[in-house]
Amino acid sequence: MEPGYYAEMDPAKRAMLLTALYMAQEQYGYLSREAMERVGRRLGMSPREVYNTATFYSMFRTEPVGRYLIQVCEGLSCHLAGGAEDLVAHLEDRLGISAGQMTGDGRFSLQMVQCLAACGSSPAMRINDTLYTNLTLGQVDTILQDLEGRP
Ligand code: FES
Repeated sequence: MEPGYYAEMDPAKRAMLLTALYMAQEQYGYLSREAMERVGRRLGMSPREVYNTATFYSMFRTEPVGRYLIQVCEGLSCHLAGGAEDLVAHLEDRLGISAGQMTGDGRFSLQMVQCLAACGSSPAMRINDTLYTNLTLGQVDTILQDLEGRP
């Protein structure tokens, strides 16, 4: 995002844009180019403004993802807690994919993100809208077993 761009955006317009992007993502699973263009037309914003905002936040996805999107924090606090590398390696091993990929059955996607705003409770990961903190590898296994058992 361009420096100062976001700070200069009208707060009401920014709130409408974030809400519209969230709703589009809820409906389609991710923000396709067409969805972002549609949001931009409705709000009178350029595709570039919409794209810059959508790609600024880790909660927005611009590529198709699995039913469960696992986002592992690799920010400084989580790194210092010794979590990110071990968590990702464990998840890659369990899921048979690398970070940035989706399992063949479309069930799981694995991503690295910079911060989940849970720095005081690191290491942290988010799966869809649920945040998990103070994670151990054993807890990750329990969480995955629960998700794998769902229909
Ligand atoms: S650095 Fe991991 S939650 Fe902030």
